[in-house]
Amino acid sequence: MIDYSNPKLVVETSKIEPGKIAWRSPSNIALIKYWGKHGRQLPSNPSISFTLNHAFTETTLEYSPKMGADEGIDLDFLFHKEENPAFREKIVKFLESIQDIFPFLRQLHLKIRSANSFPHSAGIASSASSMSALALCLCSLEAELFGTLESDEEFHKKVSYIARLGSGSACRSIYTHLGLWGKSSIAENSSDEYAVEYSDVNDIYKSFQDSILIVSGKEKSVSSRAGHALMDNNVFSKPRFEQARSRLSRIADHLRTGDLEAFGTIVEDEALTLHALMMASSPSYLLMEPNSLEIINAVRRFRKENNLPVYFTLDAGPNIHLLYPGYIREKVLRFMEDELLPFCEESKWIDDHVGIGPVELELE
Ligand code: DP6
Repeated sequence: MIDYSNPKLVVETSKIEPGKIAWRSPSNIALIKYWGKHGRQLPSNPSISFTLNHAFTETTLEYSPKMGADEGIDLDFLFHKEENPAFREKIVKFLESIQDIFPFLRQLHLKIRSANSFPHSAGIASSASSMSALALCLCSLEAELFGTLESDEEFHKKVSYIARLGSGSACRSIYTHLGLWGKSSIAENSSDEYAVEYSDVNDIYKSFQDSILIVSGKEKSVSSRAGHALMDNNVFSKPRFEQARSRLSRIADHLRTGDLEAFGTIVEDEALTLHALMMASSPSYLLMEPNSLEIINAVRRFRKENNLPVYFTLDAGPNIHLLYPGYIREKVLRFMEDELLPFCEESKWIDDHVGIGPVELELE
């Protein structure tokens, strides 16, 4: 197990100049799903995801030496330029929980400003982009204050580890094209404690589009956190974790060879399994909506009739992610316009694609 706790990471406050760091970090869409965890945010099975591009969070972290002697986290927080006490509380708790890793946080006055590229009402899970953006800012701050984390590998490993503590899926968001989280035979450097970049991939996947069809932007009735917890007593959990492992090693072959049909079959099976696990939880619950099913059926019909590689997946919510290679974009967009957008809330969708990962933002 990695132990990042380090009491030496403290500053001499009189020598600290105020400063600012900012990162943009994307969301991601899992192909093999993380669903069930144990210990301190460790996954019950490995997962792999496409990093997205347009669905992102931008976070700015401003710091200055703290004046008072108070030992707690001193944080001002703005979300889309406004105070948000609920989010602030969540971040303070998170920062408190990692004080052994970053003891200097107690010595600084912090101001965090965060904004998403997608509307809050889009029903897009923002924890992956927001927690990865925050983890990037924190590790950059460590690097700036102490000259640590010099190699890219060291930096990414720690960022991913910290992001994971904030939200499991966030640890996969920081890599180009695909992130793999959880010990697996498909990559020797894989770990349950942080994600790694997965690059043994055919070029066709690098052009993949993700058209996110917003069936409903309503707040989920059961949070992901609660959903993971329900896996502890789900009678299917043990075979599920084994199934995820075996699907991951099979999808790794299809990612390498570019066998889109075999890839798509696994991706769709995973999405439906995720929702089946929710339905088989105790208490049971449903996050798909009637319009999610309309879209799924229409996608399968369109694929069969046109022999085109377009597949669906879902997160823990009713929205449908359409995954397909860039070269069929025009045809898929026409199909969406005609047959799928009528099932979306106010015809809403987000035009995303596989991306290169986070970028540090220039500050004036
Ligand atoms: C269905 O990462 O949101 O999107 O670790 O409790 O923050 P926490 O959960 P979260 O779970 C994501 C679940 C998923 C599948 C996935 O992204 O792998």
